[in-house]
Amino acid sequence: MARKKKVTAKVISQKQIAEQIFDLLLETRLAKDAHPGQFVAVYPKGESTLLPRPISICEADVDKGMLRLVYRVAGKGTAEFSTCKAGDTLDILGVLGNGFPVDKAKGKRVFLMGGGIGIPPLLELAKAIDGRKKILLGYRNKDLFLEEDMAKYGDVYVATEDGSVGTKGNVMDIIRAHALKADVIMACGPMPMLRAIKEYAEKEKIEAYISLEERMACGVGACLGCVCKTTQVDAHSHVHNARICTEGPVFEMGEVMI
Ligand SMILES: Cc1cc2nc3c(=O)[nH]c(=O)nc-3n(C[C@H](O)[C@H](O)[C@H](O)COP(=O)(O)OP(=O)(O)OC[C@H]3O[C@@H](n4cnc5c(N)ncnc54)[C@H](O)[C@@H]3O)c2cc1C
Ligand code: FES
Repeated sequence: MARKKKVTAKVISQKQIAEQIFDLLLETRLAKDAHPGQFVAVYPKGESTLLPRPISICEADVDKGMLRLVYRVAGKGTAEFSTCKAGDTLDILGVLGNGFPVDKAKGKRVFLMGGGIGIPPLLELAKAIDGRKKILLGYRNKDLFLEEDMAKYGDVYVATEDGSVGTKGNVMDIIRAHALKADVIMACGPMPMLRAIKEYAEKEKIEAYISLEERMACGVGACLGCVCKTTQVDAHSHVHNARICTEGPVFEMGEVMI
C-alpha cells in the first residue's frame, strides 16, 4: 500500500449538487494511489477546527491527477470546505484506510448499497467492480445526488424515506420490493442501515463488506479515537478492537460487532 502523504491540493471546481451536499474536484498527486472505499483527511484552515475531516474518495482520475469528494455540510469543518472556489488550495492527508475488496465481487451478482452520505464511495467502487451490479441507493427525499453518475455502471434502484421517488423506505425495502438477489454485498451508510444489511446477509448467507464511520482525530492509527469492537482479538494488541481509520473503514461483516 502506498505511503500516506500530506499534500496541498488545488481546487479545480466546486458545486452544490443537493441540499447541503457539495461536489469538490481537487487536483492532487494522491489520485494515483486511490482505491475504492479509501478516504482522505481534509484540513480546515480555521483555528477552532484543527483536526482533519475524513471524506471518502468518490472518484479518482489517475490520468488527470484528480480526486472527486462529495460531502454533506455537517459542522464547522465541512462548512468551511463548502466556501472553497476554483484556484483555492486545501491540505489533505491520504490516501487512508483499506478500501473495498474489489476482487471478491469478480463475476458475481453484487449489491452496492449506499445510504445518504454513504453513497459517494460507491461510485469509484461501481466503476472498479467487474460483476453484475445492482446499485441500491437510499435518500431522505427527492433531493437525490450521484444517482445519474451511478447509472453508467449498473442498474440503479432508489428508495426515499418519504416515498417521493422510488421505493418508500430504505435500501432493504428495495430488495423486498423487487425480489433482488446477490452473492456479495458492499455497503456504506448510517449504522442502522449497516445493521439491517448484516442481519439480512447473515440470514441469507451472503458475503458482505461494510464501510464504518466513526469520528476521527489523527486518521492514521495513532490516537485510538476511532476503534470499533471486533469478534476476534487483534494479534498485536490482544484486544477486541480495530481502528476504523487503518484496519478499516471496510470490514467483512463477521469481523465486527455493530
Ligand atoms: C472514513 C470516513 C469517510 C467519510 N466520508 C464522508 C463523505 O464522503 N462525505 C461526507 O459528507 N462525510 C463523510 N464522512 C463524515 C465526515 O467526516 C464528517 O461529517 C465531518 O468530519 C464533519 O466535520 P465538521 O467539522 O463539518 O463537523 P463537526 O463540527 O466536527 O461535527 C458536526 C456534526 O457531525 C457529527 N459527525 C462528525 N464526524 C462524524 C462522523 N465521522 N460520522 C458521523 N457523524 C459525525 C458530529 O457528531 C456533529 O453532530 C466520513 C467519515 C469517515 C470516518
Ligand atoms: S483516528 Fe486516530 S486511531 Fe483512528
